[in-house]
Amino acid sequence: MTSARPENRPLLSLLPEGTRHGSRSHVTCFFRCGNACDQPEPNPTDNPHVRDEITKAVARRAVLRGGAAGAGALLVGSLVTEGGLAAAATSGPAARAAAAGGVLATDRFRPVGPNKRDAFTVPSGYRSSVVIKWGDPVVYGAPEFDPRKQSVKAAERQFGFNCDYVGVLPLGRSTALLVVNHEYTTEPHMFPAGTYTDDEIKRISMTNHGMSVVRIVRGATPGSWRQVKALRSCTENRRIHIRTAFRLTGPAAGDARLRTTADPTGKRVLGTLNNCAGGTTPWGTVLSGEENFNQYFDAGAGLSPDYAAQYARYGINGSGRGWGTVDPRFDLSQEPHEPHRFGWIVEVDPYDPTSTPVKHTMLGRFKHEGANIALSRSGHAVAYMGDDERGDYLYKFVSAGKVDRSGTAAAKRRNMTLLTKGTLFVAKLTGDGTEDGRFDGKGKWIPLCSDTESFVPGMSVADVLIFTRLAADKVGPTKMDRPEDVQPNPVNGRVYAALTNNSNRGSGAMPVDEANPLASSKVRASIGAPLTDASGNRNGYVLEMTPYNGSHTANSFTWDLFLVCGDPEAPETYFGGFDKSKVSPISCPDNVAFDRAGNLWISTDGNVLGSNDGVFRVPVAGPNRGQVQQFCTVPKGAEACGPLITDGDRSLFVAVQHPGEVSGATFETPASTWPHTDDFPRPAVVVSYRDR
Ligand code: FEO
Ligand code: CA
Ligand code: CA
Repeated sequence: MTSARPENRPLLSLLPEGTRHGSRSHVTCFFRCGNACDQPEPNPTDNPHVRDEITKAVARRAVLRGGAAGAGALLVGSLVTEGGLAAAATSGPAARAAAAGGVLATDRFRPVGPNKRDAFTVPSGYRSSVVIKWGDPVVYGAPEFDPRKQSVKAAERQFGFNCDYVGVLPLGRSTALLVVNHEYTTEPHMFPAGTYTDDEIKRISMTNHGMSVVRIVRGATPGSWRQVKALRSCTENRRIHIRTAFRLTGPAAGDARLRTTADPTGKRVLGTLNNCAGGTTPWGTVLSGEENFNQYFDAGAGLSPDYAAQYARYGINGSGRGWGTVDPRFDLSQEPHEPHRFGWIVEVDPYDPTSTPVKHTMLGRFKHEGANIALSRSGHAVAYMGDDERGDYLYKFVSAGKVDRSGTAAAKRRNMTLLTKGTLFVAKLTGDGTEDGRFDGKGKWIPLCSDTESFVPGMSVADVLIFTRLAADKVGPTKMDRPEDVQPNPVNGRVYAALTNNSNRGSGAMPVDEANPLASSKVRASIGAPLTDASGNRNGYVLEMTPYNGSHTANSFTWDLFLVCGDPEAPETYFGGFDKSKVSPISCPDNVAFDRAGNLWISTDGNVLGSNDGVFRVPVAGPNRGQVQQFCTVPKGAEACGPLITDGDRSLFVAVQHPGEVSGATFETPASTWPHTDDFPRPAVVVSYRDR
């Protein structure tokens, strides 16, 4: 059988030199998302967009009503989800909460300047150290890493490749569990030439996907952490990989379209793929998003016409990684349903290494960036989610049940069923016109289905959940510029979404609107839109949503573009109203986090301003609202993932993904050697902390 997609060495000769979309290398585009940007946007619909709605919106300025009054942002406190105040953004309780922020929230640091160093750079007065890196032993019995002696058996016990989401959950007084996603593999950078067969490379790479659970311990300096090396004692340590069994939950579990030869029940899936961002739940589990899962499936004998529209909407084109030759389930010609078993939100209980992780069908199937939970005052769990594709949507889920706060083991088991029943919504944003000089307006959450009822004509509950993109297309949501991390701020109750970029905004079925105002230069002239720059939305936005009446269960919200990223000297940029001469340049926001004071922390992916990616702090309230300051840069060719502020705001965890991922680089001729333990790069999790 032939693969439509060559891998490893032959591939390199096919990839052009240099960079492309943003500053990303051809290698990153191929391995990370299967060259998604080269395909037409999978969303062909002609949904009503904000510009169409402006006049109507101005005409009906009445305040939108809806949702449960009185609910608010209340997060269960823990080492991870600290905070927990429902408060106005700019006064009273928020100000008191700000005073409670730890050093990373309150320190004045000299921002790190743009640079191209092969280093992890932090401000003066701070230090950083590697907690764990690719290949390090995770499970007792794992061999020490040797790039020339890689095997499936070793990889099943070692830290996987290309770390992304980072969660830290409390364990003992000085220990915690580090939970990390391994999003994808970059084979030319992992395997010395001539050392492995193609099939060995495929099998080892498959195993390097997934997640790791690792026990960590405090270091001598407050805020520092390191891996516990005595693995025999680390009973929670775990590698979740391509052969780990997952249980499907929710209304679509067992549906005929989820059944395969190996799983006639449609309820048991082996493995999780392309896990990007995630979230830690108030009940002590970790959520993880299966993102660009479409790129792993070949079609040796062609695509089944039964699912032509569905495959197309998800970018499944039968051009995979050739894995079908070592595992037939990755050949669509043999197993047309296998891709339906990916693209879900995964939930893992890291405290129980024997637990079966789950995939929640109730949260819909799309290119899930991640999911972050807010608890309403009424006790409902609300998950905010983004579908990371140009022109796709923002989603939320509201649980039917309420959280059990009693803290018992039985309560945790009950809470772990919260994401199996409830209602799934998609967002429609309406602008109020640009005459006010602001990109802002109102929004509503349009219900798609509950666990018992579909709200989309002609589609069943299972239809909506398995083919969520197609269901959402029918109800007219707003096409966004690659919605990535969406996270509620535990201090002010607002919700922040990173909209990374969109080089094609303004074209075809994706016209500009007030929420996505920058058009591509290719089309802006024909549109005649006033809100354009010369290069389209290359640098991304941060969207700020304020739920109606402070309630995460409300069906409406107001919104504004908190940040229009880019070079502060560029006229289109906007930094929450802050003085643009006093901010750090920022490009391509991707993942977000909050400290205990409610400051927003942003990591970037694909900086197009000529510097390495990094992590930035920005207050969202008070006189410094919008003051973007760069805290760190990651090494050459890398993307900054995570991030996570934790341990009383003393620790910043960052996953350094794909260091040295530059076109033309190989294992023997790397573009980076970070973290400089070897003569090749190793993706790694870093913790930063104050050096005093
Ligand atoms: Fe894996 Fe949406 O970035
Ligand atoms: Ca406006
Ligand atoms: Ca991401």
